[in-house]
Amino acid sequence: MLRGNRTITEASSPILLFDSGVGGLTVLAELRRLMPAAPVIYAADLAGLPYGEKSEPKIAARVAGLLGRMSERYKPRLACIACNTASTIALGMVREVLEIPIVGTVPAIKPAAAMTTTGVIGLLGTAATIRQAYVDKLEAEFASSQSLLRYAAPDLVKVAEAKLRGETVDIAVIDAAARSLRAMPDGERIDTVVLACTHFPLLEHELREAFGPEVNFVHGAQGIAHRIAHLTKGQPFSADQSNRFVVTGDVQSAQLLLPAVKSHGFSDIEAF
Ligand code: DGL
Repeated sequence: MLRGNRTITEASSPILLFDSGVGGLTVLAELRRLMPAAPVIYAADLAGLPYGEKSEPKIAARVAGLLGRMSERYKPRLACIACNTASTIALGMVREVLEIPIVGTVPAIKPAAAMTTTGVIGLLGTAATIRQAYVDKLEAEFASSQSLLRYAAPDLVKVAEAKLRGETVDIAVIDAAARSLRAMPDGERIDTVVLACTHFPLLEHELREAFGPEVNFVHGAQGIAHRIAHLTKGQPFSADQSNRFVVTGDVQSAQLLLPAVKSHGFSDIEAF
């Protein structure tokens, strides 16, 4: 049993990574670099995807409910909400109900503010993320002397999901998002873009092409992986515990993700 960081953790207890879809794989990739031996249960709430188009109460209830049930079933030592939308809305609530450490994913405004030289930062996220008070707070705290231009790009979530299902990436959708952000007042001066949705680093190559070489991209995956490594430092991990990829909803149609899922170290896709 794990209470915060104080008591002894079972060696077989996994790390739970949770997202609405495959976006959290960008966090997993960084985690693997730091903790290759750690058993991971990756949970994709495909039945709830996309979170970005839902209301705050719906997202909060869904995320807290699912994480509660998943914690019961998998007994993780730590859970990571690898989703900006869910984290900016439900992180506090989830921390209140679960007794394990919860790592959230919030827009990387702080590093972006340190990086920009023009003082104009773009932020691409879901519609739900960009309207959050959490983002207002990060902006006020770290980028008050800069300009933060927020743009909701729900179609990029669809494109990222399709890409990992082996479909052709629709470049026109990516170009449209880049053009729309650039068209905002002062948008042509953007030199740094926060990828404030875990799905978007899956499209980093295409986004780079669309924005041009003068723009830098920032996201939180590396920082989150470091946070998880720090919180589990010194804990035992048993080698016989396997990695699992679980989904809500139709497990049959999720099989299209299998090649991508396998390339991240999972052998199959199971129903939650
Ligand atoms: N991956 C989620 C995020 O980081 C968003 C995807 C969705 O709309 O469900 O915000």
